[in-house]
Amino acid sequence: MESTGEGERPKVAVLGATGQLGARVVAHLRDRGVDVVEVSRGQGTDVYSGEGLDAAFDGVSTVVDCLHLATLSRKHAVDFFSTTARNVLAAARRTAVSRIVCVTIINAREPEVHRWMGYYAGKAAQEQTYRAGPIPVTVVASAQWYELAETLLSQIRIGPLSAVPGMRSRPLAAEEAAAFVVDRALEPGDVATLDHEAVIAGPEVRDMAELARAIAERRGGRRKVLRVSVSFTALGNGGLLPRGNCTTAPTRFEDWLRVTS
Ligand SMILES: NC(=O)c1ccc[n+]([C@@H]2O[C@H](COP(=O)([O-])OP(=O)(O)OC[C@H]3O[C@@H](n4cnc5c(N)ncnc54)[C@H](OP(=O)(O)O)[C@@H]3O)[C@@H](O)[C@H]2O)c1
Repeated sequence: MESTGEGERPKVAVLGATGQLGARVVAHLRDRGVDVVEVSRGQGTDVYSGEGLDAAFDGVSTVVDCLHLATLSRKHAVDFFSTTARNVLAAARRTAVSRIVCVTIINAREPEVHRWMGYYAGKAAQEQTYRAGPIPVTVVASAQWYELAETLLSQIRIGPLSAVPGMRSRPLAAEEAAAFVVDRALEPGDVATLDHEAVIAGPEVRDMAELARAIAERRGGRRKVLRVSVSFTALGNGGLLPRGNCTTAPTRFEDWLRVTS
């Protein structure tokens, strides 16, 4: 039976190693003395085609999946996340990978949530593919990050206006999500008995459009935020809030904004 005991550090492959989350996960792992393999197309491995994956997994015991595709299309998201998860599982079986940590979004798997957001349907397909596979998987579900509010500012622009949906969640700093993911990836013990589900969210219920407005004001300039109400959907009426056990990240949005501006 595979185990990761105390004193025995796994070699970890981070998929999406150059991304917002992946780069932070890589840094935390290295800080903790872990041997890391960084995986992204820019670093020579394409998880969607599978090219280079077997070589990347050589000697790896744990894979952390932080991949992302920027799309709102349900079709593209489902295809990307289920294909990459299938390729990871196939390469894991051909090598010595004994554990997968997949990062997802709180409640993305719930139909009442992903019917409003094609991207979340892709995340649901990713979770489902990993859970159905032969390798033990821990699914880490994170709430939206404060950084997402910044991304949304540049997504739908009409002149000086940015349209941002009034999504309600318990957002947190990507840095705290990354630390939590690394804690789960390095959890010692028999992989068959480790938790298969872990949830992290921020300290307060907040509205993404209001966070985006605060970021725009803090950064200065002429950009104004047009809040688009989504209160008739699960995205705006509480569907993104954690249900059940959840770890609470400590940093409040205003404190994050102060140190990142
Ligand atoms: N944003 C949020 O609020 C939030 C909240 C909870 C969970 N999440 C989840 O966190 C994960 C990471 O998101 P992120 O914002 O950190 O993503 P990101 O910054 O866009 O990074 C995506 C990473 O994936 C790599 N990648 C994309 N396609 C690839 C391919 N075919 N083969 C290999 N690598 C590929 C990219 O590198 P290359 O382009 O070089 O390949 C990059 O390193 C996502 O699964 C997301 O759903 C996000």
